[in-house]
Amino acid sequence: MSRFKYQQLANELLQQINARQWQAGEKLPSVRWLCRHYQRSLATVQHALHLLEAQGVIEAKSRAGYFVKFTLAPVQTPQFSQHIPVPNVVTVPDMFFDVMNRSGAFDILPSGPQVEFTHLNSLMRHIGRALRQQPFSKAMYYDEPLGLYELRLQITEHYRSTGLVLDAQSLCITAGCQHALFLALKASCKPGDTVAVECPAFYGVLQLLQELELKALEIPTSPGSGLDVDSLEQALENWQISACVVTPAFATPTGACMSATQQTKLVSLANKHNFAVIEDDIYGDLGFHQRPKPLKSLDTQDRVMLCSSFSKSLSRDLRIGWIAAGRWSKAVARLKLVSQLASSQTMQQGIASFMAEGHYKRHLNQYRQQLKHQRDQLINCLQHDWASDIQYTTPQGGLALWLQLDKGINCQQLYLQCLKRGIILTPGVMFSNSNNFSHYLRLSFAHPIVGSRKNALAELGRMLLQMPAEQI
Ligand SMILES: Cc1ncc(COP(=O)(O)O)c(C=O)c1O
Repeated sequence: MSRFKYQQLANELLQQINARQWQAGEKLPSVRWLCRHYQRSLATVQHALHLLEAQGVIEAKSRAGYFVKFTLAPVQTPQFSQHIPVPNVVTVPDMFFDVMNRSGAFDILPSGPQVEFTHLNSLMRHIGRALRQQPFSKAMYYDEPLGLYELRLQITEHYRSTGLVLDAQSLCITAGCQHALFLALKASCKPGDTVAVECPAFYGVLQLLQELELKALEIPTSPGSGLDVDSLEQALENWQISACVVTPAFATPTGACMSATQQTKLVSLANKHNFAVIEDDIYGDLGFHQRPKPLKSLDTQDRVMLCSSFSKSLSRDLRIGWIAAGRWSKAVARLKLVSQLASSQTMQQGIASFMAEGHYKRHLNQYRQQLKHQRDQLINCLQHDWASDIQYTTPQGGLALWLQLDKGINCQQLYLQCLKRGIILTPGVMFSNSNNFSHYLRLSFAHPIVGSRKNALAELGRMLLQMPAEQI
């Protein structure tokens, strides 16, 4: 059960939308009617509607009410954790390195056929052109520490279209989003400090906390609405934190989106308790129905550090990301210099001209549809080839869904069994420091679920059907 009335109501409405009680484009009953019918307060109904809006399921039309944006096949979502947080030293399981060594983070079958991306041809042309421009001066001089101004300008232009106004001077180019997160944590925390993280969280953040000798305060996270800010507020009564790392848009592993109300509350908690908010926006551009406005747009005291990269939207191989570090900008620029000296001018120039000619926007429009299609392929496969009692999230963006299996299933053992068949899993234990998720899996739809990948998933479903009896 969800913990709060607004979450229960949002779930109830979502189920009815999924069951086609209202079709895409149809108007939901009025707020007043919903209050009466569900016996809920105005605040609860509005909160529930805002949550569904943040998830991209419904949209508000001025003076007309709320309308269904799209309908989905019915799904269940894993339950909200009741875990009470305590700061802990982080130990990342060895499995993380094994998964990374096998290139299995976003593909259950790395040996399977590779997809051809047409945008890469155009991107390569732009990078090739940049490579031929002033090769000698580029070979002899480092780029300025903050990164190429043209690229910073293109990134700020891109954010402007989401409603976030940034100054190109406040942006620093990094070697990917992981590097940006590293810079943000290093600038705002010192060894021994406590950092609030989502539970489940992106494993890269847990790894950073371990290396930087920071403690993790794992805050329960709803599979639909992300970080539970009320739990964070309670935890702040007992613990002091230096930073909170959060992925408000399409968080991994769940695909959750935080509502604007929860984001506002998080920013005001940060202002009150004086901690940094480190926003990981890497999946923000991959919303199927909308591009959520970054949390940074709610920042009132320059304490939100926005981190992202082109790794998920263009290519992991570019190793180009960025950070808008607010009040920590100077410290971050210095740390960038220490940790990387400079970024590749050629890569930055190539991406900047690719964006300036409108290719990035065009690519995103096509890629979001493709990802949505691949998500549906994955869900179809789960519905047809897997046991009916599994629960999984239905993300409205990003690259992965979060799956809860029978409690008797140990996904670490399953991981080892799957290796023998060439199938690589990302078990739930990788996403938490407290071993909460031993019967959870993250499944990615970054690749089309057809042919050998579809067969591998079906095989996994069959293996699972045989497992509980052996393991309970
Ligand atoms: C949420 C999240 N943040 C950051 C990263 C790291 O991104 P990059 O490849 O740009 O370093 C990843 C990669 O999986 C991710 O999922």
